[in-house]
Amino acid sequence: MKATAIIVAAGSGTRLGFDVPKAFVELGGNALLWYSLRTIGAVAAIEEAVITVPPAMESRARSQVHAAGLEIPVKITPGGAERQDSVRIALGMTSVEAELVVVHDAARPFATPAMFAATLAAAERVGGAIAATPLADTLKRVGEVAGHRGDKDRSIIATVAREGLWQAQTPQAFRRGLLMRAHERAALDSTVATDDADLVERLGATVAVVDGSTLNFKITTAADLRLAELLAANPIR
Ligand code: CTP
Ligand code: MG
Repeated sequence: MKATAIIVAAGSGTRLGFDVPKAFVELGGNALLWYSLRTIGAVAAIEEAVITVPPAMESRARSQVHAAGLEIPVKITPGGAERQDSVRIALGMTSVEAELVVVHDAARPFATPAMFAATLAAAERVGGAIAATPLADTLKRVGEVAGHRGDKDRSIIATVAREGLWQAQTPQAFRRGLLMRAHERAALDSTVATDDADLVERLGATVAVVDGSTLNFKITTAADLRLAELLAANPIR
């Protein structure tokens, strides 16, 4: 099984609100990007990586590749306007020898080598696989309802059945040809999706689900970064 990892790190991190792009924000003495690079270095099947970065951040990304001790060939490219564009650009740079491609958000520093290995193994069997976690909380559909004084109150419209609902994470692994077809179709149809599995699902292909972890959360806000700092200083194994 030969695999290429795509690490998407080209976002600006608007919701985090730092001057520096999110993937280069420091977490426990390392750039956020470093964590994903170190993790893929521990996955035997991954023989190449492509990293998408914001404009003019290529050399800083290259420094992180060295800092993480990554010894596989690594290509670094500016990303696109949206995450999906970044993945499509990176996909076009993956080597034809790669049987599988695994896509991961640099914004998820706590993915494990085991998660990568599990998504790759399942993708080899069925075509695609993602890390995900079952929902733990009760789900409410919420909307604004006019209150008795004519003011707007946020309130519950309905309780949504939670059974069978999972939260999608990355890593997400696919046969390379399948993911390429999914992105080509999305470009033709102007489909915009928030993850790669969605594009593959639209082809009617099977995407398996392997165990992610609540620790594999995406750093989106300043509070997420604070939580990540605590975890980086005190890892839960
Ligand atoms: N990403 C990317 N190219 C883009 C947008 C996002 O490579 N044009 C990457 C981000 O770097 C991140 C992952 O996709 O690792 C998930 O995106 P998100 O968490 O939304 O990060 P940002 O887009 O940077 O954050 P925000 O939406 O708050 O600006
Ligand atoms: Mg974003």
